[in-house]
Amino acid sequence: MVETKHFNRAADAALMVESVALTQIAADYGTPSFVYSKQAIVEAWQRFKKPLGDHPGLICYAVKANSNIAILQLLASLGAGFDIVSGGELMRVLAAGGDPNKVIFSGVGKTSAEIELALKHQIHCFNVESLAELDKIQQIAEKMDVIAPISFRVNPDVDAKTHPYISTGLKENKFGIPIDSALQAYGAAQKMSHIGITGVDFHIGSQLGEVAPYFEAIDKTLNLIDKLKASGIEVKHLDVGGGMGIQYQDETAMDVQPLFDYLLPKLAERNLAVSMEPGRCIVGNAGALLTKVEYIKDTPDKNFVIVDAAMNDLIRPALYSAWQRVEVVSSAATKTREYDIVGPVCESADFLAKGRELAVDEGDLIAVLDSGAYGFVMSSNYNTRPRAAEILVDNDTTHVVRERESVESLFALEKLV
Ligand code: LLP
Repeated sequence: MVETKHFNRAADAALMVESVALTQIAADYGTPSFVYSKQAIVEAWQRFKKPLGDHPGLICYAVKANSNIAILQLLASLGAGFDIVSGGELMRVLAAGGDPNKVIFSGVGKTSAEIELALKHQIHCFNVESLAELDKIQQIAEKMDVIAPISFRVNPDVDAKTHPYISTGLKENKFGIPIDSALQAYGAAQKMSHIGITGVDFHIGSQLGEVAPYFEAIDKTLNLIDKLKASGIEVKHLDVGGGMGIQYQDETAMDVQPLFDYLLPKLAERNLAVSMEPGRCIVGNAGALLTKVEYIKDTPDKNFVIVDAAMNDLIRPALYSAWQRVEVVSSAATKTREYDIVGPVCESADFLAKGRELAVDEGDLIAVLDSGAYGFVMSSNYNTRPRAAEILVDNDTTHVVRERESVESLFALEKLV
């Protein structure tokens, strides 16, 4: 039995998303499909918007978590800003009707073309990750005769205690500039003719369960902001990044209220606005990957459920050994057995879950829950597999927000010689 509010079932009934049965979605649109609950996204958004109250600031949804334009459109309609990491993501935000003045541009490798595009659309702020990038932004802004608004992403050297692949705030990571050299960097920026210093930024990692690392990073960056002020450089905002964790297994989802309680009074004292960049916690629990059981395969050592979704659709289990909940949508099977749930891709890493107790038959549907973040966006066409459809459910209405890809489209750009 799942306890997720928007993916639920009455006793012994088929799993539903809001008021729609997942069996119906599979019948209408096929599998594999990503299915999203609109209400779950709205409620997750409110968990940030409410505690912010009327404190000046921007909640910038991290587009990388799920960049479907219908989801961006929904968040834009709720007043969201957007944290982007490419020109492509900026174009998605624009296509979705998002406001470029509420866009923050993060990332260590912004190209000249991307910087130019962002300046043309007058984004809110560049989160600058190196002095070399600062030089490039200055040159382009000068050529365009505009002032580029910037924050430095500082690396506060705190341990976010998360998976090493998604931890970003330690000294050894490639991200940001060391906090110890930040004063000098801001000094250099202040001398530049087409750079406007607006903030200080950090992002210490993803899927954080505890608020303590934020507190540590906040203290360190506020200390920097105070020093900057003393040296005549006044910033307008502190960006505390994203990374607020959700529940996949037995972790507790991060309660963001204490973060706001800690942060807002300190910012109010200094007349600072806040920016945040949550991604996963806005969309993660709002999505499921719906897939069909093609075969049950028994071997002397293991039983396998072979489904029609694979690592190309959801790579988190293969890449991070991530554990995501698996639910049988409905089944006539009564006998529970232990299974590995695997896909058809020719790699041993192609699994969605291992060692799960399920009662399931061939032809049944399975839902891999909590797949709304870093699911579809990390999918690929490996093995010439068309990417899944995406379906957004709003109460009893379903919207196909991305059609399933056709095989022909996968090689349409290729040429015979
Ligand atoms: N801001 C910056 C600068 C980031 O690099 C990220 C995520 C975010 C915000 C949003 O973090 P979130 O709130 O979603 O944790 N693919 C991995 C997660 C990679 C996160 C990368 N950066 C996964 O599936 O777990």
